[in-house]
Amino acid sequence: MVKSFVTLTDLSASSIDTLLDRAQFFLSHHHELPPILKNKIIALLFFEPSTRTRVSFEMATLKLGGKVINLNHDQSSLTKQESLEDTLKTIQAIGADAMVLRHKDDAASEKWAPELKIPLINGGAGKKEHPSQCLLDLLTLKQEFKELNGLHIGIIGDIKHSRVASSFIQIADRFKIKVSLLAPEDFLPSAYKNSSWSDLYQCDAIMCLRYQLERMEGVIELKNLIDDYCLTKDRFKHFKSNTIIMHPAPINHGIEITTEMVHHPQSRIFKQMELGVFARMSIFEYLFNQGPWNE
Ligand code: CP
Repeated sequence: MVKSFVTLTDLSASSIDTLLDRAQFFLSHHHELPPILKNKIIALLFFEPSTRTRVSFEMATLKLGGKVINLNHDQSSLTKQESLEDTLKTIQAIGADAMVLRHKDDAASEKWAPELKIPLINGGAGKKEHPSQCLLDLLTLKQEFKELNGLHIGIIGDIKHSRVASSFIQIADRFKIKVSLLAPEDFLPSAYKNSSWSDLYQCDAIMCLRYQLERMEGVIELKNLIDDYCLTKDRFKHFKSNTIIMHPAPINHGIEITTEMVHHPQSRIFKQMELGVFARMSIFEYLFNQGPWNE
């Protein structure tokens, strides 16, 4: 069966370590990258909005010698009630070598990847999975702390609707990473327990998350959450001096994090975006059985 990249949970800790090592290799060899995607065409199917994931998959493809085609929902025949299955099989029939799919359905990638003859990469599935973001988050932590084992990560904000949080929480145990969560009641899945700021102050990294009102029914007044849940300069004074600030973005400035903290010297938010390109290169290398995967 052709390889896909739907969730990191399908991979062993050792395989994830290899992906991270290879991303670090690409970072350190960014002026002399191997042409892993020469003669390959990658289809970017983003049926929900995206800036970082779509552009960084495109950047990774171009830098590895490949080409891209883009399809978004509003310009596609999905607007004429064509099914997702027919859309994916059409892109395959037309000749793409791999696809990256972002879709609002939690199960979209895991459902269709086994039905395809070309690799499918999950570029974000509903509220459940964002494995390439998880890989770049792990890469950011590894770059900063060298070892993942034993780290303590705090996550604040909209945990309930976040595929970033969901992917990270699912994989954290595999690396013995402790995760503490802090969210307003409406934004914490019932299976999880809320932590406290005093616990978060012990974290090595604090990951802030946007409130995804587009995935909610009813009206929530976000300004009411700022007092208790926003990462501010006053709160950050209580953290350890080497704690880093992370956010997958997009950011709602002044809601889950202040602008000052986005640009704080300990913020790695734009570093995460830079590293995301190299994390995605390592995914392509894995899927096309290149480098250490070709042994
Ligand atoms: N972090 C992330 O997935 O950003 P985009 O929605 O812009 O791709």
